Amino acid sequence: MDDCRTRLARPDDAEGVNGVYNPFIRKTAITFETAEYSTGDRRAWLEDHAGEDRYPVFVAVDGGGTVRGFASASAFDVRAAYETSVKTSVFIDPAFKGRGLGGRLYRALFDALAGVDLHRAYALIVTPNPTSIALHESFGFRHLATLSEVGRKFGRFHDVAWFEKAL
Ligand SMILES: CC(C)(COP(=O)(O)OP(=O)(O)OC[C@H]1O[C@@H](n2cnc3c(N)ncnc32)[C@H](O)[C@@H]1OP(=O)(O)O)[C@@H](O)C(=O)NCCC(=O)NCCS
Repeated sequence: MDDCRTRLARPDDAEGVNGVYNPFIRKTAITFETAEYSTGDRRAWLEDHAGEDRYPVFVAVDGGGTVRGFASASAFDVRAAYETSVKTSVFIDPAFKGRGLGGRLYRALFDALAGVDLHRAYALIVTPNPTSIALHESFGFRHLATLSEVGRKFGRFHDVAWFEKAL
């Protein structure tokens, strides 16, 4: 059992969030981002999210105060009619995966979204990723389509599965 607790993220979690996410950028195709976040850029991202009910970020923090995971909702698209849709994602420090943290963070995120004027959530999952698919399906996401070889990272093309959840 881990001793992590979940809470809303604050701008000063920037380094902690980067500590979880930047290795996924650097080493994996799980995210299609290729440039690591600086602390300043992450702080600005957290500040933007903090000002929007639609786009919360939750962190899981261990007993020593280190961020071990985070879940976020982000704008689906900048065009205004899309404002009732969000993209959601969750990332856990590999040393802490498989302990229920991803589920706890998503529970906090979707509880926070429950009273907000939103209609759909989408998750874009680079496949294969059976753990992420299991987590999303357990939160009511259903598979819509898989885009084949839609992105290239580390010299290889990758498929992306689109999942949708009614809010
Ligand atoms: C995907 C991820 C967020 C899941 O978080 P986690 O804390 O490891 O997962 P949990 O322990 O909360 O388990 C989530 C669900 O997946 C299931 N699961 C765990 N490992 C699994 C595996 N290897 N295969 C299939 N299902 C698995 C669990 O049983 C659980 O399902 P349940 O809620 O129905 O019991 C986490 O592993 C992670 O960060 N992975 C790398 C980054 C990533 O893929 N992020 C998602 C991008 S779309």
